[in-house]
Amino acid sequence: MAEQYRLSAMIPEDKVREVAERLSIVEVVSDYVQLRRAGANYTGLCPFHAEKTPSFNVNPAREIFHCFGCGAGGNAFSFIMRIEGISFPEAVKLMARKAGIEIEERQLSHAEKQAQDERQAFQRINELTTGYYRSILEQKPEGAIARDYLEKRAATGEVAEAYRLGFAPDRSDGLVQHLRSNGINLESALKLGVVRKSERGWYDQFRNRLMFPIRDTKGNVIAFAGRVLDASLPKYINSPESPLYHKSSVLFGMDMALPTIRTENSVIIVEGYFDHLALYRAGIRNVVATCGTALTATHTSLIKRHAAKVYMLFDSDAAGRKATVRSMELFMEQRLPAYVISLPSGEDPDSFLAGNPVESFRTCLEKARPAFDFYVRSLLAQTPPDSVDSKVRIIDELLPRFKKIADPIERDLYEKEICRLLGITVHAFRKRMGGMELTSRDAGGDQGQADQRNDPTQETLLALICSYPEARAEVARSGIDSLFEGDYLELAQLVLDTLANNDDDQALSHLLESIEAPGARVLLSRMLVSEARMADVNWRTALEDCIRAIEKKALRSIKNLTAQLRTADPDSSEHTSLLHEINALRTRKSKL
Ligand code: CTP
Ligand code: MN
Repeated sequence: MAEQYRLSAMIPEDKVREVAERLSIVEVVSDYVQLRRAGANYTGLCPFHAEKTPSFNVNPAREIFHCFGCGAGGNAFSFIMRIEGISFPEAVKLMARKAGIEIEERQLSHAEKQAQDERQAFQRINELTTGYYRSILEQKPEGAIARDYLEKRAATGEVAEAYRLGFAPDRSDGLVQHLRSNGINLESALKLGVVRKSERGWYDQFRNRLMFPIRDTKGNVIAFAGRVLDASLPKYINSPESPLYHKSSVLFGMDMALPTIRTENSVIIVEGYFDHLALYRAGIRNVVATCGTALTATHTSLIKRHAAKVYMLFDSDAAGRKATVRSMELFMEQRLPAYVISLPSGEDPDSFLAGNPVESFRTCLEKARPAFDFYVRSLLAQTPPDSVDSKVRIIDELLPRFKKIADPIERDLYEKEICRLLGITVHAFRKRMGGMELTSRDAGGDQGQADQRNDPTQETLLALICSYPEARAEVARSGIDSLFEGDYLELAQLVLDTLANNDDDQALSHLLESIEAPGARVLLSRMLVSEARMADVNWRTALEDCIRAIEKKALRSIKNLTAQLRTADPDSSEHTSLLHEINALRTRKSKL
């Protein structure tokens, strides 16, 4: 059974199946997308990325969807999970309600019960802590200093309420006492890092600090950040990592931003809590902040799950530029279009909005530049291309990132632009780049998007092995690694394994739900919605055509690589890797 079904810790499997059988995917999707019949499929405008012509497909026979534009794909459950931003069990429950099926949750195992109890205890501690800080800020005499501070920073009333801001008084055990009087086991509070313990007893972690609760996407408080009210250092103290809080995967303000992220289909990332607050106050709500760490791939994939476009708004100093470039690389790897918002130098969103109307900010937003464009320009500003030496340095710095541009048109335009700015020929640029055209697997890595290099031959082969047992046998005999490569190879192996055990029509739809590798997953969902075309072909002729095409391609590549080998420095690592590549191709070809 598919991974997701097993993971549904608390809902009995037969209920999941019942829900799946009662609702057709067309019904489920139709609540969100206007679908029109198109042959065997239904199509509509993809709800997961902005588009004007429909590339979103639903295949009722296989009960799956796939978007040819953004690569989203899966079954009815994954559709609901993604569009509602909820977990699998929640999606099952939501659909069960729609289908009029009642779900009693299964009895938890002892370990599950313990884990759940502990989580609830943690949640309660964070709630009590938030409430405590909040009450000090709102009503207690010792909160007056923080009230004054927030007055000056225009963070009072509804704004303070929205963030649930609080104040940790300058007392050593105020929170300790509050938690104790509420019957809290302080050892649990210690695990969350809100209290500490020494020989002399328990004491508060945060003192004399303005408190920002950090929340998960559902709004549960999972950690805190405390800012001093003056210029003393450190400016912020943050909760340590804990069972609830992993800072590399949390984006501050995500819960407040989600509704707007869905309507705007974009996210603005800022650095500071106060930057977030300033934008929120100005009515700009699709904003998240990193919690004092560099952006990680976990962050970027979280963003990608909810938006089709991201704006970076980091400081304009050297550190901010570095963060922008590093984040740009992550977004390129995720194939998420990224833009950079520039504010006048020295301004952050907070200071900018203090002196300018929100319309001026919107103007900056409209003028946001594609991240790569921003990167090229700031690189040239840093290192003027006024000598051969500096040009070479610029190119060497640019190339690894340039290679990550996935879109061929974009890459072509940037190539021209870079060459124009540097006053060099495209030929020279490419030469420096070495066999880039042939190693286009640099582009986008294996992030698996629909616009990923889509190899018609391997695509056909894949469809053949899905539909024809004879083709499977034939392909298995000649060795799948001589026919497939990359994501296709991974998927072909999975398909062969799956269909060897269970050759029914639903087996592949189930496979789709359990694949972890994003690249293979996109390939499969795309194939499953389009595979109808493969019905009624002569599998043998089709297979032979594919093999011939692969042979031809290998020959061409060998020729190209050999040409490059001639110009490469024999002592370079490029030379060695070219040799390896040529050998590998020869071996593959000989197996065909
Ligand atoms: N930060 C941190 N620890 C510090 C300093 C900064 O975690 N010692 C993180 C916080 O998330 C902070 C962000 O880096 O919000 C940006 O830092 P800074 O611009 O100094 O803070 P702001 O929140 O913008 O505060 P202010 O506007 O009051 O300067
Ligand atoms: Mn700041």
